[in-house]
Amino acid sequence: MHMIRVVRYPAAGVMIAVAMVLMSSAVPRATQTAPAGQQSVVDQATPLRKPDVIYVPTQPEVVDAMLKLANVTKDDVVYDLGCGDGRIVVAAGGAYGPRGVGIGIDPQRTAGAAANAKTAGVDGRGEFILGGLFQQDFKEATVVTLYLLNQLNLKLRPKLWKELKPGTRVVSHAFDMGDWEPEQKQDVGGTTIYLWRIPAHPPSN
Ligand SMILES: C[S@@+](CC[C@H](N)C(=O)[O-])C[C@H]1O[C@@H](n2cnc3c(N)ncnc32)[C@H](O)[C@@H]1O
Repeated sequence: MHMIRVVRYPAAGVMIAVAMVLMSSAVPRATQTAPAGQQSVVDQATPLRKPDVIYVPTQPEVVDAMLKLANVTKDDVVYDLGCGDGRIVVAAGGAYGPRGVGIGIDPQRTAGAAANAKTAGVDGRGEFILGGLFQQDFKEATVVTLYLLNQLNLKLRPKLWKELKPGTRVVSHAFDMGDWEPEQKQDVGGTTIYLWRIPAHPPSN
């Protein structure tokens, strides 16, 4: 049975109502393959679930601020968990030149992200993985970007602490990490962005 709750989703100063599926049952394995010319979508045939959060894009000025707050350089590997149309990976690749990986659960949008990277000429440095963010490993990331929900950040936190190397920066748009205090917090475009750094000895949960 699905339980659907409406929560308030702050974006660029506007409160947008978001229907979030809190409990979703597994659906059949992904059968869709990337359209021709969009080879950077890796169809890992993971069991796709309904999204935990609907798609709401981060505004460009907020994307820029997130990448600046994380101090992204060409030597980084940037993972956007729940990548939408790929704009964070594309912007990072275009402005700072790191390798980027987007993980998205929506087949069409994830394929669109790969197409957007190609259009922007950064497809050589970007990869988009069709799959659930809890099912993927992201231990090679040196920067992780998030625009999810408070509850999802909290659910993700032990995985971030377990998989990411000490010093990896985590930047979240709009949503904090509960009692894990951010190193920095910044107001931009009517919303707040947060920066954490994975500690040398993270807690286990
Ligand atoms: C609020 S949007 C943010 C999109 C993008 N990161 C941005 O900031 O513009 C959240 C995205 O996460 C995706 N998503 C939701 N649940 C997911 C899950 N379990 N695994 C992977 N992606 C998920 C949604 O399909 C949506 O594209």
